Amino acid sequence: MGWGNRRRAALGGIAALVAAVLLAGCAAAPVDDELWSVGRPERLGIGVPVEPQPVPPWFDGDDRLGRAPQPRLATAGEIPRLAPDEAPGLVSRLAAMAGADFTAVARWATPPGRTGFGDRLDGFVAGAAHGYASSLGGAWVPGVDIAPGGVGPACAGTAPPAGARAFSIGCTVVAASGSMLGERIVVLRREAGVTASASRAVQYLSPDGALGDGADLYRPETSRQVLGQVTRALVLGNRLPPGAAPFRDVTPEGARAILADTTVVADGVVIAVPWPVRPDGSGEYTVTVMVPARLVGPWLTGFGRSILDAVRADEPFEAGDAPTAADPVDCTLVACASITYDDGPTDLTDALLDTLAARRAPATFFVQGGYVGNRPDTVRRTAAEGHEVGNHTWGHPDLTKLPDDQVRAEIDRTQAAIAAVTGKAPAMVRPPYGASDDRVRALVPLVWVVWSVDTNDWRDPGVGPLTEYAVGAVGRGGIILMHDTHAQTVEAAAGIIDGLRARGFTLATVGAQFGGVLPPPGTLVSHGP
Ligand code: NI
Repeated sequence: MGWGNRRRAALGGIAALVAAVLLAGCAAAPVDDELWSVGRPERLGIGVPVEPQPVPPWFDGDDRLGRAPQPRLATAGEIPRLAPDEAPGLVSRLAAMAGADFTAVARWATPPGRTGFGDRLDGFVAGAAHGYASSLGGAWVPGVDIAPGGVGPACAGTAPPAGARAFSIGCTVVAASGSMLGERIVVLRREAGVTASASRAVQYLSPDGALGDGADLYRPETSRQVLGQVTRALVLGNRLPPGAAPFRDVTPEGARAILADTTVVADGVVIAVPWPVRPDGSGEYTVTVMVPARLVGPWLTGFGRSILDAVRADEPFEAGDAPTAADPVDCTLVACASITYDDGPTDLTDALLDTLAARRAPATFFVQGGYVGNRPDTVRRTAAEGHEVGNHTWGHPDLTKLPDDQVRAEIDRTQAAIAAVTGKAPAMVRPPYGASDDRVRALVPLVWVVWSVDTNDWRDPGVGPLTEYAVGAVGRGGIILMHDTHAQTVEAAAGIIDGLRARGFTLATVGAQFGGVLPPPGTLVSHGP
């Protein structure tokens, strides 16, 4: 939806409000609130008191009588909810846990690759999720098959989970223009069937890369003036009696907590206010207020103005560029699984890499040293796109049947061939046939990686059965064995990725499952920690 459409939608809301105010009549009479600083009802020069009048739908600033624009009640629907195709390129995130008597689901979205904005949101969600689990006396254990739809489009399907006890983090992309991004994060907690919001904030990435939330849009010393406009809208909208001062006891930290949930729109700002207000800025539910840009403009920081300017520019969103498999992943927070491909590179590998790129899915490739020289560009591309490249020996022997020096030669030649092409020697080896023993593992100072799910894809079972088995058989931390030597395997890749994500898995390289801290060399692993 472009600005024009959003504007028209907002104007419909204004028209409804105008009607409500007209009906209210004298209830919208002038009130004297100590928090007001702008827009008091004025007297005409001839000294006749003038009642405040409803704001006409086209009104966007001082009128010919010099009257200031008015704040007004808004609806939650006036907070924009951008569809995934309006903010393309964001990476959808899902963390979920099913406890003995609760369900927890967190959804958020980050720009691709490692970014300050992504780190900020990842850190917030991790803190909130781990904090929730520990508040119930346990640890956060990510699971799958919990959140309907799994890892779908970014910020889609944010309905809180059912049940008497639940926890949810939901996201809405509220602004995306050029490199500017605004993402609203709402944390809800339900106990004994009663839902309360734990925190609400819009996180912004400014066009020049600065980070902040809704409270950072305003100069700190003006927060009471902004809240004064909120008060005024509540009075004008008959939510408060004239003279009410609901924010009088709010602390500076409480004011920050309230203003953090400010969404910038082309016409101004939409503030979702906790209601009733408590001194710490919390409340059981929210009312939504629109303050015109003409009113808040003087109170905005440079950061706030840059966000407003970007929203008004309404340019196509640019999520930024990062290699396919470069998105950070924390497998203590999200449920991870790894797809691994053995025995390449082959003439099928580039098509597989194309599929992985189209879906932004990381994978791990255990390549044979003897084939690297045939397709150095493919191996180089595999590494450059962020996938993990592991060692699958030079000639695919059963290592347990070779003498020590030949075991070392199989591994070392392959390490050298891969390093010559990618610039980096692998940290992992996968033994052909999964065959290793204490002797061979002691000879090779790498992590020995086998698998938890053998798809038997080399039997060519058909794309459908192969997809169904690979998706259904894996559990959290799973490592799936496949081979990029078979056309069906490459054909099935897209469906397997989609199917795993639909169950709630986040794909990760095997190394990423260990968070960069690999088990000691010689360790045999068949799944993540
Ligand atoms: Ni193999």
